[in-house]
Amino acid sequence: MSTTLADLTSTLDARLRAAVHLALAGTTSQDVDDDPQLRRATRPEHGHLQTNLALRLAATTGGKPRDVATALLAHLDVADLADVEVAGPGFLNLRWRPEVLARLVTTLLTDEHLGVPRPQHPRRVVVDHSSPNVAKQMHVGHLRSTVIGDALARVLAFAGHDVVRQNHLGDWGTQFGMLIEQVEAEHLDVGALDLAALDALYRRARAHFETDPAFAEAARRRVVALQSGDEATLTAWQSLVAVSVEAFDALYSRLGVGLTHEHVAGESSYNAALPGVVSDLQDAGLVTESDGALCAYLDGFTARDGSLLPMLVRKADGGFGYDATDLAALRHRVAPVAEGGLGADQVVYVVDARQSLHFEQVLALARSAGWLPDGVQTQHVAFGTVLGEDGRPFKTRSGETVSLDSLLDDAEAAARAAEWGGSMPAEERDAVARAVGVGAVKYADLSHGRTRDYRFSLARMVAMDGDTGPYLQYAHARLCSLLARAGDPAAPAARPPVHPAEERLALALAAFPGAVTTVAETLEPHHLCAALHDVAVALSRFYEACPVLRAEGEEREGRLALAAATRSVLATGLGLLGIEAPERM
Ligand code: ARG
Repeated sequence: MSTTLADLTSTLDARLRAAVHLALAGTTSQDVDDDPQLRRATRPEHGHLQTNLALRLAATTGGKPRDVATALLAHLDVADLADVEVAGPGFLNLRWRPEVLARLVTTLLTDEHLGVPRPQHPRRVVVDHSSPNVAKQMHVGHLRSTVIGDALARVLAFAGHDVVRQNHLGDWGTQFGMLIEQVEAEHLDVGALDLAALDALYRRARAHFETDPAFAEAARRRVVALQSGDEATLTAWQSLVAVSVEAFDALYSRLGVGLTHEHVAGESSYNAALPGVVSDLQDAGLVTESDGALCAYLDGFTARDGSLLPMLVRKADGGFGYDATDLAALRHRVAPVAEGGLGADQVVYVVDARQSLHFEQVLALARSAGWLPDGVQTQHVAFGTVLGEDGRPFKTRSGETVSLDSLLDDAEAAARAAEWGGSMPAEERDAVARAVGVGAVKYADLSHGRTRDYRFSLARMVAMDGDTGPYLQYAHARLCSLLARAGDPAAPAARPPVHPAEERLALALAAFPGAVTTVAETLEPHHLCAALHDVAVALSRFYEACPVLRAEGEEREGRLALAAATRSVLATGLGLLGIEAPERM
């Protein structure tokens, strides 16, 4: 198995601790704080890593910090890995040996897994994402869930986990009563409608429901008919679902996300399990009746006035809602495969931060009911709201939710208008504009701290410079052309970096495996975006300072190796984010 920068950093850490004890041997201070707290150096001239260990030791043992630092240095055995010097008041600055960096670059060139370590305990991870609602257009919140969940599913799989995607489609509930009644009232052929037409139908149905008591009553009867399996009603429901799923699939393929209808596990699929959920909760004494409804009250969930917040497990009319469905879904996901479950060790819900109370309640109740086996991790992977340029939730000028297709149309048009690809055949230019437009939107979504709100600015996200998707795509395409001009050398050998710009690039590349592991553990894709952006910035400096094609001999070979390693890091990294990496731009 290959060694990573993270492994080497732990080795430095351990050897620094050992030096502390050697330096202090014979003194009374046996239980001093020997944690080096290695940090990335703030400036390259200070080396790559820095520790203030000597300053902290001096404060407890009472020596001069620089003397303590010098004593540590005398006992430190890291010459195979790093050069160390005492700096300023007593910092130790460490700089990786060039051969070490060369070895890390070699791993990127030779290991098809780019040095990303396999986990000791691979997990089976259910990623609940996208999850739009039938007969409604997806909104930007669903876009975030789709894109973030897709990146997480790809990263987790690449990091060696077993990923099961679940599209928890909103395909069940009382809204279908009024939808189906409205279809009847208007004598519509649902199969001939598109999703936009269903969305409009939904709004007419709701208005009808609110103004016409007879219609409302018919809609309620329809819900009962649906739940009791009335055939004509089921057929009408199925066609609403089919039209919607087809539209969602088209959007998924346009977005290039790995979701298909195979991943659909809609709310309706848990229908048969709902009575069992409720009766088990009743048996466990976790629900109480309140005005005919069954509610769960959990400690720690209080409203502003201090009263306990109820969780609606069964409505007064006997119907079930979002809460009960999620409980049934969770039980299914963690149940052993042998019992028909998904056997998950980890369940992650990629859903808008505004639903956090819902997930806290669902998870707390499931835990109280004993449905979460020990060792199963559950996380609400929450994300912030997409804001317009005005800082308010993203809407069209007329105040409507923005359709994702029109948003992607705009992104592609902006990408097409950008200055590149002048000499490409029209067909290729179209394909690249699609990749760049979609990539720009995705990267903007993934590169912001996940839980933060962010402003949607097309002009900024398609820009060729700055922290954008197109900047990374362009860096990749430029490398492809450079390597092609060099005759695409099969396996250039990495050399210890000589020039500071080579060193900086090698170090940025070496951080890639760690960034992938970090995303798999924190479920925060922006760490990978930041690592790739750092690579692209280091690459620009490298181009400015280090000619590649004009270089000769070992220098040329070493630089070609850096270029080839950078190309594979960018291609793989963009791939993990679900972003295409065209070879020409
Ligand atoms: N359909 C829901 C919505 O649009 C999202 C579902 C998220 N997943 C879940 N298991 N609740 O708000």
